[in-house]
Amino acid sequence: MITVSVSDRAGASAAYHVRPGERLLHAGLAAGIGLPYECATGTCGSCKATVLEGSVRTLWDEAPGRRVCRRPGEFLMCQATGANQALALAIPTAFREARAPAVQARRGVASAFHPLTGEIGCFSVVCDEPVDHLPGQFMLLSAPGVEGGRAYSMTGHAPGTRRLDFLVRLKPGGALSPALFADRLAEHEVELFGPLGRAVLREEDDRPFLAIAGGSGLAGVLSIVEAALARGLFARSPSRLVFGLRRMAGSYMLDRLSDAVRRSGAGLRLTVAFSDEEADAGFRANYPDLGFAHGLAHEVARQELMPPGGEVPICFIAGPPAMVDAAMRMLVVEARVSPTEIRYDRFG
Ligand code: FES
Repeated sequence: MITVSVSDRAGASAAYHVRPGERLLHAGLAAGIGLPYECATGTCGSCKATVLEGSVRTLWDEAPGRRVCRRPGEFLMCQATGANQALALAIPTAFREARAPAVQARRGVASAFHPLTGEIGCFSVVCDEPVDHLPGQFMLLSAPGVEGGRAYSMTGHAPGTRRLDFLVRLKPGGALSPALFADRLAEHEVELFGPLGRAVLREEDDRPFLAIAGGSGLAGVLSIVEAALARGLFARSPSRLVFGLRRMAGSYMLDRLSDAVRRSGAGLRLTVAFSDEEADAGFRANYPDLGFAHGLAHEVARQELMPPGGEVPICFIAGPPAMVDAAMRMLVVEARVSPTEIRYDRFG
């Protein structure tokens, strides 16, 4: 075991142990320490730290998130492990509040894969033991023969369930999603680490939300909608969801979304935004509970923001990085929504 002590920019400190080869971020989160992170997969750079004493071993030299590591001693905690008996680190932000449920490694067995379109599909993992997670969280999934974990959001929210359902987007040239689409993981044991992510519907949230989703980002938003339905939140807090798709032919999950709108008793208004075409009359007739618009999801969402003087919604953004960036710009720069009202996890 290697002892790690971490200090934050406010002078607070915490200590934990990491096993040889274990990722410094994973060990810290599993110890209940509020280390900063977003993607946990080496792309965002949020988990940057500086080595003060000892040394670390980098696990992925080409991690895109390393672009933020410009000074000597800076590295990504999600892509490094300890190399000495004792390690002292500094993080450039304050520790975050560590929230339940507990973060830990688990094992499970993957189901068969079900493609929904040529690019999107779903599968499940039945875990060894029940898993609690907050609506909107994700897991890192690792499979034999694939280096590192991939972040996939859960589509449902059933506290204490052993079965987790995931939505996956095919990444051509990737390692794990092509294996899933080829159904090579069915009945195989996989490892999960989590739950992770802060773009969640919290227990105390009791006001309207506006969610903007695209691609496999719909998964976390579905989980939030599921939890809101279970709490009866839509009866008190009418909310909006804008789901971005390119064309009618690539649609998925619209039956499930229609069902959610019906169950919300008109408390959830859901608009499907097609970026490349207008929905035709026949297509609209198949989904009478959904609204349709022509445009990018963030542009359509601009019209769904509450009017001036209305209650400020919680804003959730989940989707490809370009969509997340455009939605952030729209909300913060154009609509002047406070960043504290926006919840997103940048991964994918
Ligand atoms: Fe480590 Fe994103 S790069 S959390």
